[in-house]
Amino acid sequence: MSRVVYVNGEYLAEEDAKVSVFDRGFLFADGIYEVTTVFDGKLVDFNSHIIRLKRSLDEIDMKPACSNEELLNIHRQLVNKNNLDEGFVYLQVTRGVADRDFLYPDDKTPTTLVVFTQKKAIIKQPLIERGAKIITVEDLRWGRRDVKTIQLLFSSMAKMQAKSEGVDDAWFVSDGMINEGTSNNAFILTQDNVIVTRHLSNEILHGITRVAVLKCAKALNLTVEERPFTIEEAQKAKEAFVSSSTLCICPVIEIDGVTIGDGKPGAVSQQIREAYLIEAHKSAV
Ligand code: PDD
Repeated sequence: MSRVVYVNGEYLAEEDAKVSVFDRGFLFADGIYEVTTVFDGKLVDFNSHIIRLKRSLDEIDMKPACSNEELLNIHRQLVNKNNLDEGFVYLQVTRGVADRDFLYPDDKTPTTLVVFTQKKAIIKQPLIERGAKIITVEDLRWGRRDVKTIQLLFSSMAKMQAKSEGVDDAWFVSDGMINEGTSNNAFILTQDNVIVTRHLSNEILHGITRVAVLKCAKALNLTVEERPFTIEEAQKAKEAFVSSSTLCICPVIEIDGVTIGDGKPGAVSQQIREAYLIEAHKSAV
């Protein structure tokens, strides 16, 4: 049976859902997205995703597609209609349909809101059990990575490069400093047991899971430093890991061919992951 998806006020079978060839998301990647994890049919950190969505929209001068209450209702309806137990809800809002023009269409042009669910094992994933091998790649994305735009080609290119080099993912680097992963935030645990992750700025996406990780780390009495770190510091770390809605916390066991720790998922990463999963299940709505 096909999925039910949401397009501009309608719930449709996925094969009946259509978006115009003139949609600015299609022509200019002029849109914002969010990915919300679903555990036990409930939405993890929904409010934080909605707050970030609003911020991203404000940053590109796009008006909200509908109210927060309506967005919650759409998410819940789709989870129910598709019997989604574990996976995610994807939301995309674009600046709507207009003749091709670099200038935005006028304010009266309705935005295009598309929401769909995707089934996915989030908690049990082979990658999380064995730990990810990553390479570093120069960060050639645009300079507003704090805005969650649908323009993801360079991230896809970096993931393809990682795949072609026989590893799992890539971390983006500027001036020798780690920014973040292709679709996740990057962390290390230093030999002195300090959790380090890059501070918030335009260089990185302000990850929702990143905030939760920092909370869990503090609750576990770990010292946290939000600052840039080099590839070398990461390679000498006791542990490394990434965070994202769809991976939660995933250990990193190799960086540019250098083994991290003993090459197995680290104990502290595991503790943070367990604490995160408990909290995520508890607070899901
Ligand atoms: N990606 N950094 C980037 C570049 C990301 O694309 C993501 C999320 C994150 C982690 O953010 P969060 O914890 O809020 O999921 C960091 C999503 C999952 C994706 O594109 O599929």
